[in-house]
Amino acid sequence: MNEVRRKDREPAATPVEQLDDVAARRELRRLAKEIARHDTLYHQNDAPEIGDAEYDALRRRNDAIEKRFPDYVRDDSPSKRVGAAPVATFAKVTHSRPMLSLDNAFDDDDVRDFFKSVRNYLRRDFEADPSLTLEVMGEPKIDGLSLAIRYEHGSLVQAATRGDGTAGEDVTANVRTIETVPKKLEGRRKPAVLEVRGEVYMRRDAFAKITASRPLAFFAYAGGEISEPIGDTHAEFLDHLKGWGFEVNPLARLCKGEDEALALYHRILEARPKLQYEIDGVVYKVNRFDLQERLGMVSRAPRWALAHKFPAEQARTRLNAISIQVGRTGALTPVAELEPINVGGVMVSRATLHNEDEIERKDVRIGDIVIVQRAGDVIPQIVGAVESERKPGARKFKFPERCPECGSLAIREEGEVARRCTGGLICKAQAVERLRHFVSRDAFDIEGLGEKHIQAFFDDDLVKSPADLFKLKRHEKVLLEREGWGETSVKKLFANLDARRTIALDRFIYALGIRQVGEATAKLLARHYGTLDAWRDAMIAAADRDSEAWHDLDNITQIGESVATDLVAFFAEKHNRDVVKALADQIDVTPVKAPTARADSPVAGKIVVFTGELTTMTRREAKARAEALGAKTAESVSKNTDYVVVGSAAGSKATKARELGLTVLSEEEWLAMIGQRR
Ligand code: IVH
Repeated sequence: MNEVRRKDREPAATPVEQLDDVAARRELRRLAKEIARHDTLYHQNDAPEIGDAEYDALRRRNDAIEKRFPDYVRDDSPSKRVGAAPVATFAKVTHSRPMLSLDNAFDDDDVRDFFKSVRNYLRRDFEADPSLTLEVMGEPKIDGLSLAIRYEHGSLVQAATRGDGTAGEDVTANVRTIETVPKKLEGRRKPAVLEVRGEVYMRRDAFAKITASRPLAFFAYAGGEISEPIGDTHAEFLDHLKGWGFEVNPLARLCKGEDEALALYHRILEARPKLQYEIDGVVYKVNRFDLQERLGMVSRAPRWALAHKFPAEQARTRLNAISIQVGRTGALTPVAELEPINVGGVMVSRATLHNEDEIERKDVRIGDIVIVQRAGDVIPQIVGAVESERKPGARKFKFPERCPECGSLAIREEGEVARRCTGGLICKAQAVERLRHFVSRDAFDIEGLGEKHIQAFFDDDLVKSPADLFKLKRHEKVLLEREGWGETSVKKLFANLDARRTIALDRFIYALGIRQVGEATAKLLARHYGTLDAWRDAMIAAADRDSEAWHDLDNITQIGESVATDLVAFFAEKHNRDVVKALADQIDVTPVKAPTARADSPVAGKIVVFTGELTTMTRREAKARAEALGAKTAESVSKNTDYVVVGSAAGSKATKARELGLTVLSEEEWLAMIGQRR
């Protein structure tokens, strides 16, 4: 239900399709926490901070991420709880009949299809009587909280929320305080048992005042368990509800066929801004109860009803600026800074522009009048610019090529929508995320340093970059004074850190969190370059694309140009080189040792290229064996290549090898060299 609306909304969320693994996992964790918090605020404290639409958008985002990353679905995922699970403070009430949901329609065609399918389902009746019209009641869809209120012998005995549709919470005491809910039924004919269903909502005027007493009201619109049949149609039932003292929405009308239904929809849509309550569509219900009965339901929604949703709300306003947010994974997201505007009752001053291409595609320019849309979504969107109102001289937006947080180069790889900051470890926006990665199990594996601690250490300037971790001893006193840290835990942390002062090169490389450099790539690099110095020097030298270093890096089997580009970009930033140097000053990085067998091998340390088709093994296997013997393998031939092993149908590589005067070996010669026979 919409109570207190936040004036402004955070546009920071990265579009789901742009999330990488790490970001997805974090986001799922955040959403689980956030949704649980809103559930508590809503159900336990009865003090929601956000409206239904915003809440739904959170859940939808959670679902979308889970769909893309099914492996990361959490045990405490909101998707595993249907609707709002009843909480402990309210007793659980099992509904006598389930409280259903509704199918949605978003345009006129959907509505016509609904009428068609209902007629088709009931075609016997419509064939038998061609003059029969399909009558529906159309009523506003109230944006509130649905309730089931039970009366026995005319007295209110229980009220329950919808919950998950099967069971909700007992809110009898709260509902008794709602003025428009009769405590005793009026009128003469009172069924022994009458369950009334409807929507509790908050009046808009009350909204603006946010008074202490809660000006809640209730619209009745359906029945649940009823001890005797009441009327033959929904229209009659609504009249009875009024007779018993309930408020029934005054805009409800009987419609003969789809044209009348659609006309009503447009009338209600027009009336919407003047209403004292929030509505988000129009519900059509087949009027005759006997037909409702026959139509029955599909999954959890009746076949005889449809919710026709209102379109997203739009408004025009000026785009004052485009700011750039840097996400925790370094993605740069453009955000529209707007002249604050009321969009369907919510003040909006920022909206997401998603990414560089989106700005280009929509051609929005600073100073433009833009159309802002809010579609029950957390993040308002920019639909486009009103070009006719563009000021002469308005220039296209130039997306920054440097990170606004740290000034590092921001690069965009081919096929990627996001431009990313390469500042990694020094970028404030990413530092905590990177530090967390740095200490994680497959990296430095430092126990006792959870995310919470890292964030706190970072905020208090104790740890700004990885090297600072290894200097924490200097802050022993400060640490001991911190809440949650005692002598034992501090000692333990120091011991854990000391245990990592010597680390294997591949872990070291992986821990730096360079984009696209996962564990496997880190291992390849470590094996190829052997020592930290060799690797670092090569990465710096590879900035020159004509260099041997670039050629060599690009040539490592399984390292493509894109990974190579990221590696070079990382070392192109002085901050990153400084981070590596500072770390190297604190710790020992153990070189990759060639196994003893390798040193004996005549191919150890040699650069080998395989070309053409081999007969005893695949090229991939040949490379693996060569590498196991301490050789390095490459994809193309250069003057640094030691051996070129030529299979059948070898092409240009063999020719080039001969031109360069390199040692060219047949498969047989190669096998002999490594001591293997066919
Ligand atoms: S009829 C069997 N009528 O919309 C159908 N529902 O999306 C029972 N709602 O859970 C619902 N206004 O909370 C009906 N005039 C109206 C409504 C309405 C709001 C809510 C209700 C329901 C949800 C389904």
